[in-house]
Amino acid sequence: MTEKTEPRRYLINIDSVSAQQLFTDCLVVGAGIAGLRAAIEAAEQCKVTIVCKGGLKESNTWKAQGGIASVLKKTDTFEAHIADTFNTGCGLYEPEVVDLVVRRGPELIEQLLRWGTEFDMVDNQIAVTLEGGHSHPRVAHAHGDETGRMIAEALIRKVREHSNIRILENFFAIDLLTNGGEECVGVIGNDQRKGIQIIWAANTILATGGAGRLYRETTNPEVATGDGLAMAYRAGAVLRDLEFMQFHPTTLYIAGATRALITETLRGEGAILVDNQGEKFMKDYHEAAELAPRDIVSRAILAQMRKTESTHVYLDVRHFEKEFFAERFPWINELLESFDIDITKNLIPVRPSAHYMIGGVKTDISAKTSIENLYACGEVASTGLHGANRLGSNSLLEGLVFGQIAGRAASGNINTRASHHRHPLIKCQIPHSARTRLDTEDVTNSLRALMWRNIGITRTDQPLSEAQEIIKFWQRYVMDKIFDSPEGWKCQNMLTVSLLMTQSAKMRCESRGVHYRRDYPQTDDKNFKKHIEISKNIG
Ligand code: FUM
Repeated sequence: MTEKTEPRRYLINIDSVSAQQLFTDCLVVGAGIAGLRAAIEAAEQCKVTIVCKGGLKESNTWKAQGGIASVLKKTDTFEAHIADTFNTGCGLYEPEVVDLVVRRGPELIEQLLRWGTEFDMVDNQIAVTLEGGHSHPRVAHAHGDETGRMIAEALIRKVREHSNIRILENFFAIDLLTNGGEECVGVIGNDQRKGIQIIWAANTILATGGAGRLYRETTNPEVATGDGLAMAYRAGAVLRDLEFMQFHPTTLYIAGATRALITETLRGEGAILVDNQGEKFMKDYHEAAELAPRDIVSRAILAQMRKTESTHVYLDVRHFEKEFFAERFPWINELLESFDIDITKNLIPVRPSAHYMIGGVKTDISAKTSIENLYACGEVASTGLHGANRLGSNSLLEGLVFGQIAGRAASGNINTRASHHRHPLIKCQIPHSARTRLDTEDVTNSLRALMWRNIGITRTDQPLSEAQEIIKFWQRYVMDKIFDSPEGWKCQNMLTVSLLMTQSAKMRCESRGVHYRRDYPQTDDKNFKKHIEISKNIG
């Protein structure tokens, strides 16, 4: 199933002759686990530049609590991990990709250990826990709930000390540059200190992460606004599975405070969900109760919130030992203490929120996208590992494995036509628009509320159509403008990706994995056991 639509090619005016220019062999856009791992791999063979929108620490990886899944115990098998990933993926996974990621995991995790990631250990081995959807204990953690941060710190140390890697923080990549629509030749972006710059690159790796910030309720950091998806789309890349946004059941809900993930490991350790009457309810929705799959728990919480007319439910951990909790969940413990929540006396207010974008820029098994010299890895990519639902803790694993694959493929593809010598003339002159200006901050906030309401955990046709109309209306007033700051480009990207997600969600008239249609509650293998791909008309 393929959908084609036509947006503007570039967001800003470009004159490649007069712009400030930088040159690199391999450009990595984004600095989560996938981008950092890709840069380290590529730097073995060529000069690498990493650009990231904020600082190196602002990524979904940095915030990841739950762990990294891999076959690390003798009692576990690759076949079992593959089968668990298949079972969760609801028919849309790519078997060779699952096989590859699962089998390559252990060696790359051992490498992370050697590079200084302080994994939690037992008997000199990396300790693993059993989590929802996994048939064996295979989720590794570092410093309890600080797994992402510990992995990122080790990778950041590596990239900082590598003489072949240049890092440009606070660089907002605005657009991928293409030569005739088929070959990527770098990016144009805004360096916070130096202004607009072109970076010519023989190969570009997109590792820009997710899009949780398209939703009012999300576990994601501010940078996760789907910019990589929007850039790739404008450049003509094929995107797929954008209807599959995974919602996390338990995000700390304190009105006015930034939402924060409360890891599902907590439920794995025995935390109970209760409603505002203090009643347990998960058994009413699924026999596995608190350990049911993530999408089912999210929908159950939503239904219970409606039933009890409440804005949230609670996690009850009052039966946990205080010391155990502080040691096992140091980050959450500190967060709760900062809100004066004593876990032995108080309930933890939670509700679901947008967590992980399963869809993305379509790649093959070598991380190649549909555009020559453009690779993608991590959350921005759709490699086919997750299918229609993601097995918990498989995303850090995917970022690690596909980061290496992308870095290797991109650096092995540096040819003599490298960016230093020849690059195309790119000119783009956007006509002035006299149409009224909207306040982009207001549009962004309204869009996030609309996405949460109309393209949230459950969907139906009418609200999806309504959302399409509203987004198109905003687009008329925002997409015709030329902005000169990240706020404007971000709003344009968010509108672009939101519309694509809405179109995809509307086209999938069935329920599968994380995509639940109240008007089509069944899975329809006959008509929908296939991907929804979206690309722009080129030429
Ligand atoms: O609940 C969690 O810790 C989330 C893990 C994941 O998204 O893989």
